[in-house]
Parts: sequence; C-alpha cells; structure tokens
Amino acid sequence: MVSKVRYAKRAGTLKPDEIREMIKITSNPKVINFAGGLPAPELFPVAEMARATGIALTESGAVGLQYHATDGYLPLREKISERLARLSGVNADPADIMITNGSQQGIDLSGRLFVDEGDIVLTESPTYSGVFNALKVYLPEFVGVPTDDDGVVPEAFEEILKRYGERIKLMYVIPDYQNPSGRVWSVPRRAAFLELAARYELPVVEDSPYRELCFEGEPRPTLFSMDKSGMVVHLGSFSKILAPGYRVSYVLAERSILDKYIYASQGAFLQASTENQVAIDKYLELCDFDAHIEKIRTVYKRRCELMISLMEKEFPESVTFTRPKGGMFALVTLPEGKNARDLLKTALAEDVAFVVGDAFYAAEGVVNTFRVCYANMPEERIEEGMRRLGKAIRAFAAK
Ligand SMILES: Cc1ncc(COP(=O)(O)O)c(C=O)c1O
Repeated sequence: MVSKVRYAKRAGTLKPDEIREMIKITSNPKVINFAGGLPAPELFPVAEMARATGIALTESGAVGLQYHATDGYLPLREKISERLARLSGVNADPADIMITNGSQQGIDLSGRLFVDEGDIVLTESPTYSGVFNALKVYLPEFVGVPTDDDGVVPEAFEEILKRYGERIKLMYVIPDYQNPSGRVWSVPRRAAFLELAARYELPVVEDSPYRELCFEGEPRPTLFSMDKSGMVVHLGSFSKILAPGYRVSYVLAERSILDKYIYASQGAFLQASTENQVAIDKYLELCDFDAHIEKIRTVYKRRCELMISLMEKEFPESVTFTRPKGGMFALVTLPEGKNARDLLKTALAEDVAFVVGDAFYAAEGVVNTFRVCYANMPEERIEEGMRRLGKAIRAFAAK
C-alpha cells in the first residue's frame, strides 16, 4: 500500500543520492569501483582507536555515556584549537568551536541559519554534490560560480554578485583539494575571493575535510585565517584523516555566529555523541596523529600519481583531467557534446565504475565530466581499472 500522507513542500526535493545509490551497483566485487568516496579502510588506526576507546571508557566512562552540552567535549575542542593554531595559523578559542556529527551536519545547519525559500546559494562549479542534498530542503536556487585550476574566478564571481545582489545569502566553497576536482585555490585567489565576499557582505562556508591530505609541502592558509570580515564559517572533520564512522567534525566561527549554530543544533540533534568525542580526544592524547596523517598522505599520493600516469597513457588526448596535489579525487572531462552518463554504461559493461559529474553542478547542465577516487584502491586494482576504463573510453569515443 502506498501511503497518501501529505508531505511538506521541502520533502518533494528529497530524492535518493546518486553516489550512495551507486554503492549498491558497485558492491559486486568484480566491479572496479572508482565511484565511492570512502577513505582507505586498511589505513584506519583500528588497534589504536580500540585502545583509546577502551581507556576512554574505563577512565571517564560515565562522562562519555552521559548527555553533554551542545558545543561539545571541552578537552577535544581544546585539542582542535591547538591543532588549528599549530597547522592553520588560526587563533581560535575552544569557545569558537562546536562539535557536529560530521561536517555534512555543519552544511545543513548553515542552511537553517542563512537560507530561506527563493534565496540564492552560490557554489563553486563544480562542487561537492552533498551540498545540494543538504540545502535543497531550504528551497533555494543554486548558482554555480566558474572556477579554474587556481580556484573561483574573481571576475565571474563579481559579475554574479552584481547580477543577483541581496538575493544571494550564502556561498559554499572547498578551497583545499576539492571534492570532486582535487583542485586547491592559490593564495592570491583566496585573497581576491575574500575581498569580494567582504565587500558584498556574503557569509561564506569553507568546508575543509581534505586540507591536511596535501601531497607536497604545507597546506595553504585557510579562508578563515585570512578573513577580516568575521563572515567565514570553517568546517573541519575527522572523517577523512581519522575515521568517518565516528561522525566527529566541527564548526569554527566568530562567537555570535557560532552561538546561532549552537541554538540551531539544540533544536535539531541536541549534541554530537559524547562517547565518540571522548574516544577521539583520548586518541589525540595517546597516539601520534601527525604520523598517522603522514601515512595516509604517502599512500594517497602514490595512488594518485599512479592513476594520473595511467590516465595519461590510456585516455585519448581529447579527454582531459585534473592533477590533484592532495585529497582523494580527480575530475575527468570528456570532449564537448559527449555525455558521461552514456560512457558509464560502456564502463559498467567492462566492470569499472565512476561517478557521473552532472550532480556536481548547480544548474549549468554540464554532462561531460566524471569523478574518479584513487584513495581507497590498491595499486594493482588502479592499474587494471584504468586499463578497463581506457578501453571503455576509446570504444565510446569511436561511436
Ligand atoms: C566536501 C565534503 N564535505 C563534507 C563531507 C561529509 O563529511 P563528514 O563525514 O564530515 O560529514 C564530504 C564527504 O565526502 C565531502 O567531500
């Protein structure tokens, strides 16, 4: 029986998330799956987490099992604040930080705070498809801002700011090793972006889950650390550098803005899991987190370089792709007029999968891109997978 229940208007926007749906298709072990965005499971510090969780429970069991204030477990927020000072040049008091269940929740809370029906939300073009999933329930219009290899293109950004004026309520960006392109913004582009955002008084959500996964040198300064307007909200996450299963992430914002995030959270979910916060805090206290991240970086860098060299070898010249310097993903662009959704059929016949890129664009109707994830695949699978994908692309190009 199909229920005749009457939903709210926003429920009409809810459709299955294509990437999560793809996980079903690609769970067949024969399929070499470049579609997922999961961190490499063999790199999870299972033994260390087990030890930290055990000690957390024995030492402060009742604390972890109890309700907690919405802003989160103070020792963990103190450690995040120290880390931000050491690695990001961010001078954040623990009181400027609130813990969430994943940064996906930070995106949703941003929608609650900034977006009304009919408002415009700006995103990079392309961007993380999860931002559309999170924010569409607030019934905005999404507008994509053109980007190139250095980040948001300032002239195009300004033109959009002028065209839509005060209808624009929020811009969501991923300046570091972006999902889906792996691109990182240059420092001058960060400065130009912030200058324009401040001039137009635009709240900016800087989502930064991949920042520490840089393959060379140090990460670039965050928008939050460079901003003087107080309107940048920074989302950080342990998902890609420790373990997504704990669902521990955080919002960092100017105090009066953070208060609004805390009040919104009190209505939405009360607090993030105390036990998970205590466990991660213990892990940070007892284990060498920097060494762990270095291990992930080394493995991902090798996988990335291998994938890029194979794409250079296997793909026709008319197919271009990004060359990530960090993160987990690369974005492939087919020649104009080709549709990546059609290519996916050919690829699946070869037992290889990727994510079609149309979900990464606000409303631009770009259909000729797709995303590949190199992070969670052993090198021999990357080799075999790229050979199959190259074969599928050549067959498809010849059609
Ligand atoms: C850009 C971006 N933001 C947020 C998320 C969700 O992260 P979390 O596990 O912290 O909710 C992802 C996950 O892939 C992501 O790529």
